[in-house]
Amino acid sequence: MTGETLTIDRSALEQLAALLLERAGLKVTPDGYAGLRLAMQARMPALGLDDASEYVRRLRQLAGEHELRALLPLVTVGKTEFFRDSRQFAAFENEIFPELLKHARREARAVRAWSAGCATGEEPYSIAMVGLDRGALPNEVDCWATDLNPVAVENAAKGRFAIRRLLGVSEPRLARYFTLSDGQYEVTPQLRDMVRFEGHNLAAPIWPQVKPQSMDLIFCRNVIIYFDQPTILAVMDRFYDSLRPGGWLFLGYSESLFRLPTRFEMIEVGGVFIYRRPVRRHAMLLPTPPKPDAPVEPQKPADRPTPKMLPLVVGLQLPKSVASMPSPLAPRPSPSPGSGTPVERLAQIVEDIEKGDFPRALRLSHKLSEDAPEDLAARLTLGNVHALMGNIDEAREAYQGALQREPLSVEARLYLGIAAMQAGENDAAKQEFTRALFLEPTLALGHYLLAQVHERRNDPESARRSYRNAINQRKGPPHALIGHFPDLPTSNEAIAQAAQYRLAALSER
Ligand SMILES: C[S@@+](CC[C@H](N)C(=O)[O-])C[C@H]1O[C@@H](n2cnc3c(N)ncnc32)[C@H](O)[C@@H]1O
Repeated sequence: MTGETLTIDRSALEQLAALLLERAGLKVTPDGYAGLRLAMQARMPALGLDDASEYVRRLRQLAGEHELRALLPLVTVGKTEFFRDSRQFAAFENEIFPELLKHARREARAVRAWSAGCATGEEPYSIAMVGLDRGALPNEVDCWATDLNPVAVENAAKGRFAIRRLLGVSEPRLARYFTLSDGQYEVTPQLRDMVRFEGHNLAAPIWPQVKPQSMDLIFCRNVIIYFDQPTILAVMDRFYDSLRPGGWLFLGYSESLFRLPTRFEMIEVGGVFIYRRPVRRHAMLLPTPPKPDAPVEPQKPADRPTPKMLPLVVGLQLPKSVASMPSPLAPRPSPSPGSGTPVERLAQIVEDIEKGDFPRALRLSHKLSEDAPEDLAARLTLGNVHALMGNIDEAREAYQGALQREPLSVEARLYLGIAAMQAGENDAAKQEFTRALFLEPTLALGHYLLAQVHERRNDPESARRSYRNAINQRKGPPHALIGHFPDLPTSNEAIAQAAQYRLAALSER
């Protein structure tokens, strides 16, 4: 039986929607059931199944985790938009693209861009529009757009979009690059010709279609979030090899701040962070935006007022060297309140939190969230300031706002779990930490906090298991968390030590 001939009834779709909500926090409304059906039709034959309810049952089992990871990219395919993350696009348009175009013209070639995981095409068409807006001729931008999902690629290549999908496109661009026909917007032939769509699996071990050092730009946003750590590292390695020296890699907002042990450097451009293959011989010809400051260990004055939070991290002594992340949120020279880039403003808020000036931190984070509504770090930090002040409902509201923007934000789930712990709601906390760990299984802090919830729920067996999981991450990748929360350790070593201590204490009981 082929996928398309499988019958999938509504109750199986409802069960799957419930499971996605529970495990990954993804909300799929009945409008999205057609997408779920397609995804199940694609995956069930791979498991040799023709019963949709049995498929959902398999997903629910412990071993279903692997299958859920295969299914997720298929069910989230709709989550894209034109000019998604406008701050990244502003940096691309104003700073990066003009330099790349100049450089490519000197070498009499086109700027080569790759939208990897392009979904239904909004991202590569946005790249092409930026190119034309910045004065490139159509043949001066060569955009390759790929996706694992053949249905998405097919639709993307058609270049037809429902009117509601064009909300992020300005009137002048709409007039210049789209025509309205049969109630849909269609990209102009000129724009369509600038983008080549193709099926491509990023997780494949070899990419024969990609020549080494051939790309100026790779956009791979909101894709690697579904990959496990070894796959991410392998993909990053191949991206690195595909880029010219000085070439740029745009990752999704919540992905871009994860500190991965790769050869890329992280550069601040126009207030956002973008990865770049380091420039070597061509240094003079490529843009050289300022490097982020060297990591600064936050200073904690001895008389800092104690935040109103529960002692969540029981027995966890932070070694002095914990703040080892090159965190873009690390304090820098203070800009005046309300001025500066969002990164500078966040640094100011962090400084205020560290000084214990929560009312000011709250004012500034409110203002920043208003001014930069797309900024995930701003929303999460706003929630964290509320949490520190004991305003749990407001904190939750801010985290939910972050989730509306980034449904797969690991941090939002983690902080929601902490807020639930603060409110004494252990079941809710357990659920949020479980979701965070589903999204990022190597998050040592998530395992540690989940273990603490198990302890509070008088479930020592599960607590032991979770502490062991935290310990197992000792050599795992460190994770920089978006959104500042004081005293949360990110060093796996510190968390493993604390987990070992708790484990020993549990065994003695
Ligand atoms: C959430 S969309 C992101 C679309 C766009 N990049 C953006 O940020 O708006 C994720 C896309 O990644 C694709 N994807 C997931 N796994 C992939 C893989 N192994 N290879 C290529 N594409 C993949 C999915 O099919 C989906 O279209």
